[in-house]
Amino acid sequence: MEFSLINQTIQHFDGDSVVVFSNTDTNLNDAALRQLVELNQFESKAGKALSLNLVEGFKAKHVIVVGLGDTPTTDKNYIKALVAVSDALTTAKIKSTMIQQVEIEGCDQQWMQRTTARVMQNATYQIQKVGADQTDESPVESIAMQSDADNAHELAQGQAIANGMALTRHLGDLPSNVCTPTYLADTAQALATEFDLDCEILEESDMSALGMGSLLSVSKGSIEPPKLISLSYVGNGDANPIVLVGKGVTFDSGGISLKPGAGMDEMKYDMCGAASVLGTMRAVAEMKLKVNLTIVVPTVENMPAHNAAKPGDVVTSMSGQTIEILNTDAEGRLILCDALTYVEKFNPAVVIDTATLTGAVIVALGKHHCGVMANDQDLADDLITAGKTALDTAWQLPLDDEYDELLKSNFADMGNIGGREAGTVTAACFLARYAKNYRWAHLDIAGTAWVSGAKKRCNRSSSATINSIYLGSGLRIVMSNFENVTVVKAANIYFDGKVTSRVVQFADGSKKTLGIMMPGDYEFGTDDNELMEIQAGEMEVLLPGESEWQTFTKGTSFEVPKNSSFKLQVKEVTDYCCSYW
Ligand code: BES
Ligand code: MN
Ligand code: ZN
Repeated sequence: MEFSLINQTIQHFDGDSVVVFSNTDTNLNDAALRQLVELNQFESKAGKALSLNLVEGFKAKHVIVVGLGDTPTTDKNYIKALVAVSDALTTAKIKSTMIQQVEIEGCDQQWMQRTTARVMQNATYQIQKVGADQTDESPVESIAMQSDADNAHELAQGQAIANGMALTRHLGDLPSNVCTPTYLADTAQALATEFDLDCEILEESDMSALGMGSLLSVSKGSIEPPKLISLSYVGNGDANPIVLVGKGVTFDSGGISLKPGAGMDEMKYDMCGAASVLGTMRAVAEMKLKVNLTIVVPTVENMPAHNAAKPGDVVTSMSGQTIEILNTDAEGRLILCDALTYVEKFNPAVVIDTATLTGAVIVALGKHHCGVMANDQDLADDLITAGKTALDTAWQLPLDDEYDELLKSNFADMGNIGGREAGTVTAACFLARYAKNYRWAHLDIAGTAWVSGAKKRCNRSSSATINSIYLGSGLRIVMSNFENVTVVKAANIYFDGKVTSRVVQFADGSKKTLGIMMPGDYEFGTDDNELMEIQAGEMEVLLPGESEWQTFTKGTSFEVPKNSSFKLQVKEVTDYCCSYW
C-alpha cells in the first residue's frame, strides 16, 4: 500500500473515492453530502460507515462517510473509524482513496499521519494461503492523506510499524507444519540480512552445554529440533539494551498431558509471542529508532512421544533451580525460564516477555485486554500507557508472595503449576523466580493474539503494537534529544491520562524533566528554581512580574524563580526539557 500527502479539497480529488468524516453533533460542511446523510438517517456513530456513489460536486465516484462519534473526536474513535474505512474499501473493492484531515483531541498531525498509516495498513492485512492464489479480497493500493504539512517521515514510521505487525500476523497464521522452530530461525536470519542485525541461533547441543534442562525437556518428544534465537539492533551506542523475549511453541499439543481435540488446531498460534517480538524488531529496525533492542525467542514443538517428558519428571534449569513437571501442558514457562536466565548476558536495561501463556487469562480478562504482570511498577505503567495509545490494551494482575507459595513441590525447588486458582498469576510467579536480576514485565497474550471462529486469524492488535509503541513513542520522547546519556530511571508524568513528560535521572545523578506540550493555555507554578529549554515547537510565556509576553522557540530557554507562577501559551506541539536547582 502506498501512502502520500495531498493538499487539496475533498471535492476536487479525482481518484476512485474520498473518505469524509462526520461527528454526531455537528453538521457536514458540504450541502449535498449533508442532505444524503440525513436522507439515509446516518447517525455518525464511531466506526459506522455510509457508502455513497456519484455525489453532486465530488469528482471521486465513491464518497464514504464515516462516523467519529461526539465532538471532540477521541483517538479511540478515530482508530475505530479507520477500521470501518478499510472494511468499506475492501467490500466495495476500491483501490485508491483520499482521507480527509480531521482534528483529534490531544493529538498532533504527526500522530494522525503515523496512526493512519499504521491502522490502514494493518486493517487490510490478508492471510497468505499456503499453495493457493490470493483471490478473496481486493487490497487497497493507494491512500492520499489530506494534509497541509509535510510529514512524510511520520507516514513511513506508521508504515514500518504496520510492516512489523504484518510479519507478526503472517507468522501466526502459518500452519505448524510450515512454521517450525527452524522456520522461525530462518525468518530471524533473513531479518538480520535485510536490516543488518546481529543474529545468533543456538542449537540443541549449545543449549545442552548451557544447562537448559527445562527448555530441552519440552522439545524432547518432537522430531523438530529446538532453537534459541537472539537478534540485536543497535541504535543507541553502548546503552544497555531493551530485551524482548517471545514464547515460540510452534505447536502445543500439551505433550503427554495431551489437550482435548476440539480447537487443537489453534495451538499453532502458541508462537504468537515469538511472532510479536520478531515483528517488533522489524518495525524498530525499519524505523531506525534510537534504542538498543535485543529479541530472544526460545522455540520448540510440544509433542507426546515415547521419549517426551512425563508428569512427575524433575529437570534442572539453566539457573540451577530444579522443577517438577506436574503437567507437560504448562510448557511455555519451562522454555521461558531458561530464556530469562540466558538474557542476563545482555545486561538488559529492562526485559519484557510476551507469551500465549495461560488459558486462565481468557477467563480473567476475556479477549479485550492482555494481562500484564511486573516486578517494576513504572514498567507496568509504561506498557499500560503504550497499550492505550495503540488500542492494544493491557490490564495488570498482582504478583504477591501468597500466589508464589502455590508453586511448592515435595520433589524439586518448584512445581510447574500452581493449581486451578489464579492460573495466570501463578504462571507469572514461576517466571518471576527467573527474572530477579533486572526490571521485568510479562505480557500474557493468550486471549488477544488471535481470533477464533469463522474469522479465525492472527489478531489486528497483536502485542507487537504495544511493544512497538512502547519503544517508538514512549522512549522517543526521552531519547530524541539526549542520545549519549544513560537514563537510569524514567518516571512518567500524566496529564489528562496521557504521558506528557518524564522525569529522567541520568547516570551522574542529575534529574531532568523531558516532555511534550500540546497547544493551549496553561498556568504553571513552581517551588524550585527552574530552567526550561525548548527543544522543538514554540510557546509564548508571561514570566512572573513581567507585563509583556515573550516568544520562545527551539534552542531558547528561560528561567523561573522558586515559588512563582507564570503563564504559557503553547502555539504548536512543543518538546521541552526542564531542570531544577
Ligand atoms: N498455550 C497454552 C495456553 C493457551 C490455552 C493459550 C488456550 C491460548 C488458548 C499453555 O501452554 C497451556 O497449555 N497452559 C495451560 C496451563 C495449565 C496446564 C496449568 C492452560 O492454560 O490450561
Ligand atoms: Mn500448553
Ligand atoms: Zn502453550
